[in-house]
Amino acid sequence: MVDASSFIEEAVAEIESEVDDHNAVIALSGGVDSSVAAALAYRAIGDRLTPVYVDTGLMRKGETEAIRETFSYMDSLRIVEAQDRFLDALEGVTDPEEKRHVIGEQFIREFEREAKSAEADYLVQGTIYPDRIESEGNIKSHHNVGGLPEVVDFDGIVEPVRDLYKDEVREVARELGLEEVTSERMPFPGPGLAVRVVGEATREKVDVAREACHVVEEETADHDPWQAFGAVIGKGTGVKGDNRVHGWIVAVRSVESRDGMTARAQELPWETLQRIQSRITGENENVARVVYDVTHKPPATIEYE
Ligand code: XMP
Repeated sequence: MVDASSFIEEAVAEIESEVDDHNAVIALSGGVDSSVAAALAYRAIGDRLTPVYVDTGLMRKGETEAIRETFSYMDSLRIVEAQDRFLDALEGVTDPEEKRHVIGEQFIREFEREAKSAEADYLVQGTIYPDRIESEGNIKSHHNVGGLPEVVDFDGIVEPVRDLYKDEVREVARELGLEEVTSERMPFPGPGLAVRVVGEATREKVDVAREACHVVEEETADHDPWQAFGAVIGKGTGVKGDNRVHGWIVAVRSVESRDGMTARAQELPWETLQRIQSRITGENENVARVVYDVTHKPPATIEYE
């Protein structure tokens, strides 16, 4: 990328000429990539862009409110409350790829309905360079890359940040004047908290993971991780008050990376880890144990599934 301001100028011009006088739709995730793509497209075509945020029930704590706030200036913003539909569809599904598949399918159904009612001919996506590489290599099915274009019939797909790395997208976000919470936001996987609970994504496990992610994000903020979160990885025995409990095991992960393709587990201070442990077990009586993941990528992946 040359520099952020000329990138913006070129990207806006490109969207204008591609979408022309048609309508377009974009799926917002709350992350920096789709936020930047939406802001660029909005500059180009204004309210002919319909940004759609689907609350899958697998999103970060406070995400829906944050989206409402960040994009309040876009009159065409739509928020779809689909939590129950996603969590019901995930009932009994334990295989990681099957989980991604179910989420991807449900997402397409939700999104297709909105795209049709917005009479959108064009799809704008916040796909970035590493997404394309991982999808081509078929390392995993990224639901924000595969799926939508094949199923929903669009005249064209516009991917304004397709050649950028994450740090470049952040630079563009700053230049666009997006809030710091958005521009510096750590990446979040498309399938959301479903890949941060091992096995079936029940409401209870997802809630534990959501709170744990929130605590870990807050407590690691000073250490500037590339990504940090908590994941529910199983059950184990603990002692709460006078009782032995069979509670959840939460794994804490905090990694440094440039693009997510490789990563290093962060060496966090003991006090930070202890604060995380004490908050997570203190705030949720069903969590018996907190462990810290010291594995780099490779050999591990960043997420648990
Ligand atoms: P892994 O776990 O493969 O993750 O080391 C690398 C980066 O990708 C994110 N991730 C996903 N993003 N759909 C996405 O859009 C997915 O299915 C998915 N799985 C992982 C992960 O959070 C990390 O940033």
